[in-house]
Amino acid sequence: MFLKKEIMKNRVLAGMRPTGRLHLGNYLGAAKGMLTLQDNPEFDTTFCVVDIHATTTPYDPKTLQASARDVFIDYLSVGLDPEKSSIFIQSDLADLVTQLSFYVSSVMSVARMQHLPTFKDKKKQYPNNVNMALLNYPLLMAADILMFKASKVPVGIDQEPHLEVAREVARKMNEQFGLDFPEPTRFATVGEYVPSLLGEGKMSKTVEGSSIELSDNLDTILKKLKRSPTDSGHGDKVPTEGGVVNLLKFVELFEGEESRKHYEKLYTSSGIRYGDLKQQLAEAIFAEIKPIQEKRVELEKNPEYIDKMIELGAKKSRIIAEQTVMEVKKSMGLS
Ligand code: TRP
Repeated sequence: MFLKKEIMKNRVLAGMRPTGRLHLGNYLGAAKGMLTLQDNPEFDTTFCVVDIHATTTPYDPKTLQASARDVFIDYLSVGLDPEKSSIFIQSDLADLVTQLSFYVSSVMSVARMQHLPTFKDKKKQYPNNVNMALLNYPLLMAADILMFKASKVPVGIDQEPHLEVAREVARKMNEQFGLDFPEPTRFATVGEYVPSLLGEGKMSKTVEGSSIELSDNLDTILKKLKRSPTDSGHGDKVPTEGGVVNLLKFVELFEGEESRKHYEKLYTSSGIRYGDLKQQLAEAIFAEIKPIQEKRVELEKNPEYIDKMIELGAKKSRIIAEQTVMEVKKSMGLS
């Protein structure tokens, strides 16, 4: 057992829901973290498109598979590499992951699940859709992670309550059934909090005008930035809240800390010209996403390659997932 641990690499698992193409917030908050880990030889990386999770809130069955495939192509476009990582669509392993999520549900109390802030938020958002799948959402996510015995999960800070559940599940499964699940921790990226363009809250697909899409061209980006709120650009102190703070955060993320400092100095001296700031920022953002768009165009020319990669990902990840589910069944007295 000891030897096995020694030679086993740390596993990483990340997932994204197929609720439309990725935007800049997903890219900086999650995809960039995935890339960093993929290129680190210390880690074995697995990435999935969690389409089963999408069924826990209202969705369109007719478009779900196309959306999942879309995110899969986005994964490849940002640089996730099917040779270096296992990249798969969750429903291709539905038999294993839903099975495991049921098994692990026996160690968690109903009250614990009902008290999660993410559950409460969704209850408010969809009062007519407070179903068991929604309550089980974090356990399905725990199953995603535990299935690969992953110890690192590159996700945004909003996912911390879910990781806390995954750790609890791991601990309890280990205690009660003598298993060896690592307790997964979050891998934070510099862009883990990407603000909304509207000056309040975080960038979100569901808030109109708050996000920049990975597919936006320079013009669109500039138009969106022009709508984000500013002030006079000049004062005794750099503001600590409001639209300007968000803009400066974007400057930091795309043009670096030095540029941010430069603008901060301008604010308290000759003043910031937001027209110039936004033009430069739009160019910096576009420079970062342009190669991703070009890669996507290439990939879309070759649908057979995408099919093959989806199949390969499912095959590779199934090997490990099957092993884990077998172990759990044995330890729980089910085989
Ligand atoms: N809950 C995550 C989100 O909304 C998505 C997710 C599901 C996930 N399973 C996962 C993320 C496993 C990381 C690992 O962003």
